Order: sequence, then structure tokens, then C-alpha cells
Amino acid sequence: MIDISNLTVKFGGVVALDDLSLKITDDVVGLIGPNGAGKTTLTNAFSGFVNVSSGSVSVNGLNLIDMPPHKRTRWGVARSFQKVQTVFDLTVEEHLNTVLDAKGASGQLREKAIVRALNFVGLAAQRKTLGVDLNPYHRRMTEIAKCLVGAPRIILLDEPGGGLSESEMLELRRIILGIHPEFGAQILLVDHDVDLIRDVCTSTVVLDFGKLIAFGPTEEVLQDEVVKAAYLGR
Ligand SMILES: Nc1ncnc2c1ncn2[C@@H]1O[C@H](COP(=O)(O)OP(=O)(O)OP(=O)(O)O)[C@@H](O)[C@H]1O
Ligand SMILES: [Mg+2]
Repeated sequence: MIDISNLTVKFGGVVALDDLSLKITDDVVGLIGPNGAGKTTLTNAFSGFVNVSSGSVSVNGLNLIDMPPHKRTRWGVARSFQKVQTVFDLTVEEHLNTVLDAKGASGQLREKAIVRALNFVGLAAQRKTLGVDLNPYHRRMTEIAKCLVGAPRIILLDEPGGGLSESEMLELRRIILGIHPEFGAQILLVDHDVDLIRDVCTSTVVLDFGKLIAFGPTEEVLQDEVVKAAYLGR
């Protein structure tokens, strides 16, 4: 279980997360809200990319906020970025190796982990392709493969569907649905595509101006009048 307690993140006068508390137990959980609601800030706080003003994010009693970012990676926090982080002069395999290096993985395990992650996201044929030569979909898949390669416990996906076509979104949906059964990781999925959230997330968190405005079974949350007014109606 992920226990977020009184989490506050401030950027100068902007309160990006405002005393957020919630307990997440489901395997695949949605995180939605209008632009600027604090979704990316929550993934950043989780993974150690921003400083937290107060509060905690605990998993089975372990407070991740107390751990330096590289220890969180080693422990099993993996994330993708809203803006893809493709390095032009690294191959897909080398992208995955950056994660395995950070995890301190040994040689034999590496090969297995790379093959498994690449097969899972359908990138086996692009293993030796340089970042610069990857199309936008393959760049997104490289981000997801990086999340999968290092024995993740929690995966934070920040708008993995950004810029994808309808058919690519179907493929993404299939891949996200397969992650928990295949890799066992708990997933927090940020996306503006409500259909994707509805299809893959059993429960959903809604933020607005850094505050929790709804949390519960996805369909109930999407029908909530407050959520409709704050987000879906905009
Ligand atoms: N590094 C930063 N420095 C200053 N302000 C920031 C920083 N990161 C985020 N913010 C501000 O914090 C608030 C929350 O931003 P955040 O990026 O978390 O929103 P979001 O829900 O991910 O939005 P979007 O749907 O547009 O991605 C916004 O007001 C944003 O301008
Ligand atoms: Mg964002």
C-alpha cells in the first residue's frame, strides 16, 4: 500500500501539492486533473525530482521521501516523463542499461531483463536503433521499457499517451494492462485520455489546484459532479 500523508510541495508562492493525503491499494490507479493540478509534481515528489515541503510517501511503512533519489530507483521506483527523455546518441539498449547501471544489476540478469522488457513493449527489433532514429511511438515505448527493466515495485507513468495516434493508444492500453500481471508492479497512471483511464485503472485520484477533490472507483469518480465541473467540463 502507498500511504501519502499531508504531502505539500511549494514552488515559491505556488502550492503545487496542498496537504495531500490518500492511501492507494489498487494495482493500477489513475491520476487526473486539469493542467497545473499537480499531477507531474506528485510523480516528481515520489521519485525525488522535487523537494517536498512537508509530508510523507510511505510504502509498507518505508518513507520514500527520506531516501535520496538514487536509492528510490534502487528500491524500485520507476517513472516515465511527460516530455520523453530520449537521448539521441544512445541506442534503445543503452537507454535500458542506464537504468541497470543505476540498479547495480549483474551481467547475466541484464541480458534477461533487457530482452524481457523489449519484447514486452514490442521493441526487440529496435534494440540497436539510436534514439535519434526512433519514431515518437518507439520513444514512448523506450520510456516504458526503461521503467520495466529494473525490477520495479512502483511505476509512475506521466502521460505516456501524449502525441500517440488512436491505434498506438490501443497498443499502449494493452501494454499497460499487461504490466501488473507480468511484472507485479503497482502503477500510477497520469493521462488526459479519460477512455484510457477508464479502461485500465480500477481506482482514480483527481487533483485540482494541488488538492484532492475525488478518489475512488474510476467510474464513480468520473461521474462525480465536482470532478465533472472541475475537469471533464473544461
Ligand atoms: N519546477 C517548477 N517551478 C515552478 N513551478 C512549478 C514547477 N513545476 C510545477 N510548477 C507549478 O506547479 C503547479 C503544478 O504543476 P504540474 O506540472 O504538477 O501540473 P500537472 O497537473 O502535471 O499539469 P499538466 O496536465 O499540464 O501536465 C503549476 O502551477 C505549475 O506551474
Ligand atoms: Mg504534468
